[in-house]
Amino acid sequence: MRTLLAALLTLTLLAPALGTPTPPTPHRPASKRGLSWANAHWVPIAPFDAPSTPLTAQYNWAPAPSANTSYPFVPMLWGCDAAHVAAWDSVVAANFSGTRLTPDRAPLAFNEPELGVQANCSPKDAAAVWVKHFEPLKAWGYRLGTPAVTMGPEGKAWLLQWFAECAGACNPDFLAVHWYDMSFASLVSVLQGYYAAFDLPIWLTEYALTYFGPGSPPPLASVREVDEFMRASMAWLDAQDWVERYFWFGAMYDMQGVNPANSLLDPAGAPSRSGQLSPLGSVYLAPANSTRGTATAHAASAARRRRRRHTLANTAAICIVAWWYL
Ligand SMILES: *[C@@H]1O[C@H](CO)[C@@H](O)[C@H](O)[C@H]1NC(C)=O
Ligand SMILES: *[C@@H]1O[C@H](CO)[C@@H](O)[C@H](O)[C@H]1NC(C)=O
Ligand SMILES: *[C@@H]1O[C@H](CO)[C@@H](O)[C@H](O)[C@H]1NC(C)=O
Repeated sequence: MRTLLAALLTLTLLAPALGTPTPPTPHRPASKRGLSWANAHWVPIAPFDAPSTPLTAQYNWAPAPSANTSYPFVPMLWGCDAAHVAAWDSVVAANFSGTRLTPDRAPLAFNEPELGVQANCSPKDAAAVWVKHFEPLKAWGYRLGTPAVTMGPEGKAWLLQWFAECAGACNPDFLAVHWYDMSFASLVSVLQGYYAAFDLPIWLTEYALTYFGPGSPPPLASVREVDEFMRASMAWLDAQDWVERYFWFGAMYDMQGVNPANSLLDPAGAPSRSGQLSPLGSVYLAPANSTRGTATAHAASAARRRRRRHTLANTAAICIVAWWYL
C-alpha cells in the first residue's frame, strides 16, 4: 500500500504538468500603448506611425487592417451574427493574408456584446460562436481575448453569464474591457474589480474621459482635465503588471458621442483631414517609459499564481488519496 500511495502521490504531483496545456507565452511589449483606428472615420495613418512612435499594436474593430503600420495588427471578430462570422472564417482560412500580427498572435472577440446598438450577442450565442470559431485558434498558438465588454455592471454580468454558457469550453488568455467615466479613481477601481473577478491580464481596448453612465451627464471634462487624466492613467496602467495593453479613444475627428476633448487630432485639421495632432495626441505619442521591469514582475507573479493553484490542487488530491488508502 505504501508503494501504491507513493506512486499515486507522484502521479498527482505530475498531473498539472501532464494535464494542463502550456499557455502561450504572453508578449510583453516595450510600450503598452496601442492605436484603435476607426476606418469608417478615415484620417491619415502617418501621424500615428512616425519612426519614434511608442505605439506597439493597432486594431480597427475588424478582422483585417484598413491601413498597415510599422507595428503589428490585432484582428477582431466584431459580432456573433452569420455575416461577421463568415468574414472572420475567411480571414482565418487565409492565415490573415500574411498581415503581421502581434508576437502573441492575439485576436479580440465581440465588441460590447451586451449592448443592443453594438455586437448585441446573447451570452449563449457568443459562447457557441466562440467555441466553434475562436477557441480552435488556441491550438495553433494564438492568445485569445475575451469578448470586449463595457465597464458597467451589465458588462460584468454578461461576461459571467458567457463563462457559464461556455461551461469550461472557452479559455481566453486575457480580458478585454472598455472604460468611459469621469475620474482616475473610477478607472483604477473598475480595472481592479475586473482583475479580481476574472483573474486574467487586462487589455483596455477603449478608454476616454467621458460620461456614458445613468442619469443626467455631468459637465464635459475640459481639455486640461483630459490631459491630466491621460498622463495619470498612462503612468498607472504602465505600472500595473497585469495590464498588458491600452488603447485610447480616439484617433478620429468624429468622436461618436465621446467628449471631443479626447480626440488625438486637432479639429482644425478636420476639413482637409490633415492629421495634425492635438496637444493630447502629442502626449499619447510621446516616447513611452519602458515596461520591461514590470514584465519580469508580471511573469514572476503569474508563475506564483500558477504554482499556488497547483499546490492547492495537489494538496486536495493527496488528502483524497490518503483518506481512501489509509
Ligand atoms: C496590409 O499588408 C498585407 C500584407 O502585405 C496586405 O495583404 C494588405 O492588403 C495590406 N492592407 C492594406 C490596407 O494596405
Ligand atoms: C501563417 O502565418 C504565420 C506567420 O504570420 C506563419 O508562421 C505560419 O506558418 C502560417 N501558417 C500557414 C498554415 O501558412
Ligand atoms: C515616465 O517617467 C518619467 C520619470 O520617471 C515621469 O516623469 C513620466 O511621467 C513618465 N511618463 C509616463 C507616461 O508614465
